[in-house]
Amino acid sequence: MRSMNQIDYLRISLIDRCNFRCRYCMPEKADLEYILRQQLLTFEELLTLIQEVFIPVGFTKFRLTGGEPLLYPDVVKLVQVIASFPQTQDLAMTTNGFLLAGMAQDLYDAGLRRINISLDSLNPEIFDQIIGNPGRARWQQVWDGIQTAHRVGFSPLKLNVVVIPGVNDNEVLDLAALTIERQWHIRFIEFMPIGNAQLFGDQGWIPSAELRQRIRDRWGLMESQVCGNGPADVFQIPRAKGTLGFISQMSECFCDRCNRMRLSADGWLRPCLLNESNQIDLKTPLRTGVNLAKLREQVSQLLALKPEINFKQRESGTIGAYSRTMSQIGG
Ligand code: GTP
Ligand code: 5AD
Ligand code: SF4
Repeated sequence: MRSMNQIDYLRISLIDRCNFRCRYCMPEKADLEYILRQQLLTFEELLTLIQEVFIPVGFTKFRLTGGEPLLYPDVVKLVQVIASFPQTQDLAMTTNGFLLAGMAQDLYDAGLRRINISLDSLNPEIFDQIIGNPGRARWQQVWDGIQTAHRVGFSPLKLNVVVIPGVNDNEVLDLAALTIERQWHIRFIEFMPIGNAQLFGDQGWIPSAELRQRIRDRWGLMESQVCGNGPADVFQIPRAKGTLGFISQMSECFCDRCNRMRLSADGWLRPCLLNESNQIDLKTPLRTGVNLAKLREQVSQLLALKPEINFKQRESGTIGAYSRTMSQIGG
C-alpha cells in the first residue's frame, strides 16, 4: 500500500541561467536554449501564484532553486516577502555558492535560514573540471561563500556532492571528514542521467550503500536525525558535529515518500522530477486573466493525482530523454 504523503514542499526555479555549467547538470555543447525573458514569470506573477494558489492549497515549505537562484535580480526581496507570510513554515535555497560571500548577510537579514550549497570536490582543479570552467579557479570563491554562510549563521548548512565515478568518488572520505569538526551536513547524491547522459556512460553510478561502507570502515557510522524536507537518509560519524546524508535516487525508490512539486521559471508546475507527465502551465492562464479559483482547483486536482504520477515511468524516468535539463528543473 502506498503511503499518502502531504505534498507541501514547492521547489521554485527562479531562473534557468547559471554561471556554472556542471557536467552532470547541463549539456556540454552550447545548444541549451534559455527561456526568453518574456516567458519568465515576473516577480509579481510568482508572488501571486505563491500567495493565491500554492499557499491556499497547502504548500508551506519553499525552496528557491535555479539554474542559479542568486542570479535572480530580486532574490533578496523575494526571500523577504516569502519569509514574511505567516503560512511559511520553511524557506530554503539551493545554490552553487559562487555569489554567496557577498550576499549571505543580506539573505539572512531577509529571513533565509537554510541553505544547501553544491561542493563536488575539495580539489580546485577537479572542481573546475566538474563545473565546466577549467582554469578559472572558482573553488576558492565557493569555499569563501560557504565560510561566510557559516559565519552569518545559516543552519543547517548543507553541502551537496554529486558523486561521479572516477572523477570525485576518491574524495568521499575527505569530504565526509569535514563533518567531524564542523557542524556541516554533507550529502552524497547518486548521479542521475538527467542533463548529460553520456557522462553516465560505462562508469555507472556508485550506490550510497557502497559509500557508507567505505565511511563505516574508516570511522564507523550510525543513523542520525533527519533535518530537512528532502529524500536524504541521514547518518553520522560517531561523535562528529555534523551529519552525512545519502540521496539514493538510483539505487532506491523513494517516490512513495515524495512530498514535493516543482515550479519552473516559466510557470510550469511539474509533479515529478523523473517524468514529464501531467505538467501544467500556470503562466498562460494567469496572463489571460483566468479566475485564480480555477488555478487552485487545477493544482488541487494535480495534488490528488500525484501518488500515481510518482510511480509512472519510474524505469524510463531514469534512462529516458528529457526535454528539460536538470539546470532548468532546479534539481
Ligand atoms: P532538504 O532535505 O530540505 O534540505 O532539501 P533537499 O535535499 O530536497 O534539497 P536539495 O535541493 O539540496 O536536493 C538535493 C538533491 O536531491 C537534488 O538536487 C536531487 O538530486 C535530489 N532530489 C531532491 N528531490 C528529489 C526528488 O523528488 N526526486 C529525486 N529523484 N531526486 C530528488
Ligand atoms: N544527478 C544528481 N544530482 C544532480 N544535481 C544536478 N544535476 C544532477 C544529476 N544529474 C543536483 C546538484 C545540485 C542540485 C541543484 O541538483 O547536487 O546541488
Ligand atoms: Fe548550475 Fe547547479 Fe546545475 Fe551546476 S548543478 S550547472 S551550479 S544549476
